[in-house]
Amino acid sequence: MIFHIPWIYVPVRNVLAIWHQLTKYEIPELTKPSVIMRDRGRVEEIIRNMHRAGPGALQVISDFDMTLTRFAFNGKRCPTSHNILDNSSLISEECTSKLANLLSHYYPIEIDNSLSVEEKVPHMVEWWTRAHDLLVQQRIKKDQLAKAVRESDAMLRDGYEVFFGSLKDHSIPLLIFSAGLGDILEEVIKHNGVFHPNIRVFSNYMEFDENGVLCSFKGQLIHTFNKREGALLNPDQFEQLQDRPNILLLGDSMGDLTMADGVQNVQNILRIGYLNDKVEERRDAYVGSYDIVLVKDETLDVPNAILNYITEGK
Ligand code: C5P
Ligand code: MG
Repeated sequence: MIFHIPWIYVPVRNVLAIWHQLTKYEIPELTKPSVIMRDRGRVEEIIRNMHRAGPGALQVISDFDMTLTRFAFNGKRCPTSHNILDNSSLISEECTSKLANLLSHYYPIEIDNSLSVEEKVPHMVEWWTRAHDLLVQQRIKKDQLAKAVRESDAMLRDGYEVFFGSLKDHSIPLLIFSAGLGDILEEVIKHNGVFHPNIRVFSNYMEFDENGVLCSFKGQLIHTFNKREGALLNPDQFEQLQDRPNILLLGDSMGDLTMADGVQNVQNILRIGYLNDKVEERRDAYVGSYDIVLVKDETLDVPNAILNYITEGK
């Protein structure tokens, strides 16, 4: 039409641009160099939807090892919940060395980008089974676990006080879905003083005999790539959470992407993935699957900033 006056469009376009960049100003952490997003506009839309619905509609579903804990500190790898025990004084030197051999054989398989999940699964089952069998032979006492954690190099990611504290303050449930050791990871969280009542853990738990000695592991084995099955087979874990249709999902493995599959009626899900290791080989796969990828980022700054935006003024 003749009345297509450009100056009308300019402000409209500007308003749209400012609206589109809202989270850039509200959440400057999203501009950190460690952040990669496949579709920034979509991420902003999801976050805005979550802000509108508020903390009452939100739940956080997170992996533990290398997601809530640091991958490295001062250039040195930090332990997983398994490694805390593997390297503790509760384990004989011979057993520590056998567990280290298992790690150096199976961990490269776990993160190998050229293998499919189907190809990896039998190796993961073998790894967990062999490691748990070795641990059971060590006659580990329940009352010594806290000491093993205290003496370990395990660290929650920087910003953990704000993360755990803000979820507690806004009564947002935090469901931790871990293929690690439940007894140990609970100790790590307690040791850091943030094991609040809004936390629920779904993990591999130890069974102790009448003398408090580890004798087996409870229930179905959880490894890196069967979290979806676990989520679907354990509707009780999710039952109370069905009225919270918005999910912030945190993980560090491709297996963590399906942790929320047990939640029905999901309205908005934002998947944040920590890419800690083999960055170049795995970048494309992570960017293709996670909404936000955090490359070698040892902090919870981005999840904290998003939570702050969602809960702001509520
Ligand atoms: O909490 P999350 O699900 O991340 O815990 C699993 C992690 O523990 C795996 O990514 C794996 O690398 C590690 N693991 C380990 N020792 C084992 C088995 C698994 O360090 N024996
Ligand atoms: Mg992990």
